[in-house]
Amino acid sequence: MKIFLDTADIEEIRTVARWGVLDGVTTNPSLFAKTSGSSYEEVLQEITKITSGPVSAEVVAEDVEGMLNEGRAFAKLAPNIVVKVPMSEEGLEAMSTFAEEGIKTNCTLIFTANQGLLAAKAGASLLSPFVGRLDDINQDGMIVIRELVEIVAIHELETEVLAASIRTPVHMTQAALAGAHVATLPFKVLQQMVHHPLTDKGIKQFRADWDKTREALAEQSQQKKQEVAAAPTQPGS
Ligand code: E4P
Repeated sequence: MKIFLDTADIEEIRTVARWGVLDGVTTNPSLFAKTSGSSYEEVLQEITKITSGPVSAEVVAEDVEGMLNEGRAFAKLAPNIVVKVPMSEEGLEAMSTFAEEGIKTNCTLIFTANQGLLAAKAGASLLSPFVGRLDDINQDGMIVIRELVEIVAIHELETEVLAASIRTPVHMTQAALAGAHVATLPFKVLQQMVHHPLTDKGIKQFRADWDKTREALAEQSQQKKQEVAAAPTQPGS
């Protein structure tokens, strides 16, 4: 299973890349809005230098021509850019044109299995059902992941299910068990996955015991040296 980072924050991406668990990155206009100083294009180029995995860049145009213009420009930035297109009538048309042009797409804002099926038919290489936003309105977002994974497998569709809008480590486990091909996670959720109170406590305890033992050994050896120094010298020695 691939793990993408759901952020436009360069430092977060560098950190997870160093951990050796980064397979790609997803961005969106809201995530870019949290960064400062650089243009969206500059941020995307920086990200593509950190990971060779897919980097999703989202179009904001709502008409086909606008989506195509933005997406083609993104695709020129680096070979691993994937154009993120929202599920809509225009989005489907744009995704099918991108597919003909060999530009990879990630269909975003999917909330039903049927939307995912249509996006797959239009040629999207990634389908992004939003788990957390469905949970927010009291629907079980994980159902869409399970349904889409099954549909993709039954019909041998050439696409991958990317569990998006993941808000908790429990979402991540459930997405993995559901067979999602990819999950995109905020940095905070990845950190939560790393840590466990008993792991963190255990690390501290092992270190404390190690330090105590070394101190005791050092004291014993010091004592021995003092005893040897204090011992009376034998006549003739
Ligand atoms: C990723 O592709 C999505 O844009 C993102 O996961 C949405 O997450 P949110 O619902 O927490 O904003």
